[in-house]
Amino acid sequence: MIHITLANPDHVAGISKVCSDGYWATHSETRSEKYIQGVIEEFYNHERILKEVSEMSRDWGGYFVALEDGEVVGAIGGGMIGEDIGEVFVLYLNPDRRNEGIGTKLLDALTKQQKEQFNATEQWVSVAKENQKGIPFYEARGFVVQHERPGYHDVEGERFPVLRYYRKL
Ligand SMILES: CC(C)(COP(=O)(O)OP(=O)(O)OC[C@H]1O[C@@H](n2cnc3c(N)ncnc32)[C@H](O)[C@@H]1OP(=O)(O)O)[C@@H](O)C(=O)NCCC(=O)NCCS
Repeated sequence: MIHITLANPDHVAGISKVCSDGYWATHSETRSEKYIQGVIEEFYNHERILKEVSEMSRDWGGYFVALEDGEVVGAIGGGMIGEDIGEVFVLYLNPDRRNEGIGTKLLDALTKQQKEQFNATEQWVSVAKENQKGIPFYEARGFVVQHERPGYHDVEGERFPVLRYYRKL
């Protein structure tokens, strides 16, 4: 049974693992090892995630985790980027657990938080243009592509454009 809950410090190692494994599985065909390692070191280190499960605000609503027998199998995090505009900042699963509905459950939990606590009426997400493991999911959940923009992360000129997706809540 999958249980979705707001993450606490007990979940830090599990979040780091699903995000790192998920990032490798999603991007290893298109990005250099150096690039991937840089992203993982910056965003998915334990110290940073510990802060992110401890200090929540309107801008960062914390991580929600999907747990099975106490083990983290997926994680999502987001925040508000405007008066009534929510954003999904990160969403990864254990790569062996895709297409079982876990991503939908996580997105539902984040969306409920953004609607109920912060009055979100729309939701955005950036997806790497080449990410065919993410785009069909967001499109199936009603997100529609709006425009393209350059990715933020740059490792020695290696940089990837993202598509900005939007849905009305
Ligand atoms: C994106 C991700 C979190 C989604 O979670 P998930 O548990 O696999 O997704 P779910 O099982 O809840 O839903 C999958 C939906 O996408 C649809 N889908 C998946 N692959 C598809 C494809 N190739 N073509 C069309 N639809 C597809 C499914 O039909 C399903 O929709 P439905 O319930 O209406 O049938 C997960 O696949 C993942 O970890 N992907 C790699 C990491 C990633 O890209 N993260 C997002 C970075 S922005």
